Amino acid sequence: MIILGIESSCDDTSAAIVADGLVLSNVMASQKVHEKYGGVVPELASRAHQQNIIPVVDDALKSAGVVPADLDAIAFTRGPGLMGSLLVGTSFAKGLALSVDIPLIEVNHLQAHILAHFILKEKDPENIPEFPFLCLLVSGGHTQLVVMDDYLDMKIIGRTIDDAGGEAFDKCAKVMGLPYPGGPVVDKLAAEGNPDAFTFSKPRLSGFDYSFSGLKTSFLYFVRDQLKKDKDFLISARADLAASLQKTIVSILMDKLIKASENTGINEIGISGGVAANSGLRNALLMEAKGRNWNVYLPEFSYSTDNAAMIAITGYYKFLKKEFVSHRVTPDARMNI
Ligand code: KG4
Ligand code: ZN
Repeated sequence: MIILGIESSCDDTSAAIVADGLVLSNVMASQKVHEKYGGVVPELASRAHQQNIIPVVDDALKSAGVVPADLDAIAFTRGPGLMGSLLVGTSFAKGLALSVDIPLIEVNHLQAHILAHFILKEKDPENIPEFPFLCLLVSGGHTQLVVMDDYLDMKIIGRTIDDAGGEAFDKCAKVMGLPYPGGPVVDKLAAEGNPDAFTFSKPRLSGFDYSFSGLKTSFLYFVRDQLKKDKDFLISARADLAASLQKTIVSILMDKLIKASENTGINEIGISGGVAANSGLRNALLMEAKGRNWNVYLPEFSYSTDNAAMIAITGYYKFLKKEFVSHRVTPDARMNI
């Protein structure tokens, strides 16, 4: 069974081919146009998607050695995301599905981030999580703890009440004068710094919910105060600041994940979303796994930030359940799991 996946929810246009759960191609066009604005500009994003979508899909088909007539279905991101961006992917998916007369499958972007763990590996197809599976999804827009009882059966048990984990990285990076998106830059700088150089307070929130806006504010005030004393603070203390910030964010993320695992008794544990690429978080998870008898699952880097392979794999599991949608479907910018 051959599925074409299309992802266009934010600032990356991506298309992928998945055949029986294996990825044949996963092509990505990242949009550089937003860098100078320090964040994604929605109107520019949708225009860039429109320019990128045909060459990206064409490339995905060609590198997989597939022609449109070989496809069994097209899966596309229906939401959540930016309306204009979603419209480009949705409209393109509808048009192509109509022209080759194959079913259309709508995909929730967040569900897809988690199902990225179920992409089969050629050498080791058995190595996917077992159910129930507890997954921490952290991206630029979302932070959620999700319990998965089956491929398409997910329950959110915790979420952020304000900023997302990736947003905390990005906003604090901006305070440090680093380029957007700041997460990967902080990660790189942190490797050269002392994580115990500075201490930032962590939120005290009951249950499994997260909060990052307090950290963002205290980080901003701390940096401002230091700059008053030493105008070169951001140069001399850059790496230490990045390492201490990363340590705090990772510790906030891990605390609730550990609590959720203890409460639910689930020890099949994964992380998903752009922040799953963070080396501090990956190391913390591996460390914790040793002491806690966890089986941990870290997505490959290319499947953890936004990508169409995760959309196509979700399409694959939905195809097995014949979960198709009509051509009347419209994007849903605020779609929930
Ligand atoms: O999943 P994603 O690609 O897009 C969204 O759906 O949001 O996640 C993007 C987020 C950004 O906030 C980016 O800074 C963060 O993931 N990110 C990282 C790293 N790589 C990407 N944050 C920390 N460390 C990284 N290595
Ligand atoms: Zn995402």
